[in-house]
Amino acid sequence: MDRIIGEIDKAIKVLTVPAQSARAPAGSPDPETLPDADRRTSARLMRVNHAGEVAAQALYQGQALTARNQTVKAALQQSAAEETDHLAWCEQRLRELQGRTSLLNPLWYVGSFAIGALAGALGDRASLGFVTETEAQVESHLRGHLDRLSPRDSRSRAILEQMQHDEIRHGENAAALGGMALPLPASLAMRAVSKLMTNGSYWI
Ligand SMILES: [Fe+2]
Ligand SMILES: [Fe+2]
Repeated sequence: MDRIIGEIDKAIKVLTVPAQSARAPAGSPDPETLPDADRRTSARLMRVNHAGEVAAQALYQGQALTARNQTVKAALQQSAAEETDHLAWCEQRLRELQGRTSLLNPLWYVGSFAIGALAGALGDRASLGFVTETEAQVESHLRGHLDRLSPRDSRSRAILEQMQHDEIRHGENAAALGGMALPLPASLAMRAVSKLMTNGSYWI
């Protein structure tokens, strides 16, 4: 019961309380004069990335809940702490762009928590393999966003580049701890879910 209450408390915090970053947000906080069309596009892209980071919180939280090995648990928690930085940076950048967070975030949180807990329940090697696959997909997604961002929006670019750097490391760490390669249908299903998430959060 305590654990359930703890998880609900964490979910409410992620969804309603501004995240605090341990590291300074990447890029210069100086206000930029972005043309309105660029600002709107950046706000949509950063809303998608913010939703992705909400999902990352839930995934890592779900996995840590069911992880068996203490080393694995500690590694998941270390990556989760860096995901909190990402969440805070995306939130801050969204505010600077006068954007808003996705209304679908509670849905992404609940769904991702369930997927994370399931991955964790399949055992640590599968769970770590899931992290490696997720982070690889996130990294390629971020590469796509870096291509779509206006060249004038150097602040968002700096944030996404730092995130990309961290996600690559999260994936490598999970692989080094013994993550197994996921079967193709699992990777394809994950791609489909993340497509749903990125498209939904772009508009809603
Ligand atoms: Fe992240
Ligand atoms: Fe990550």
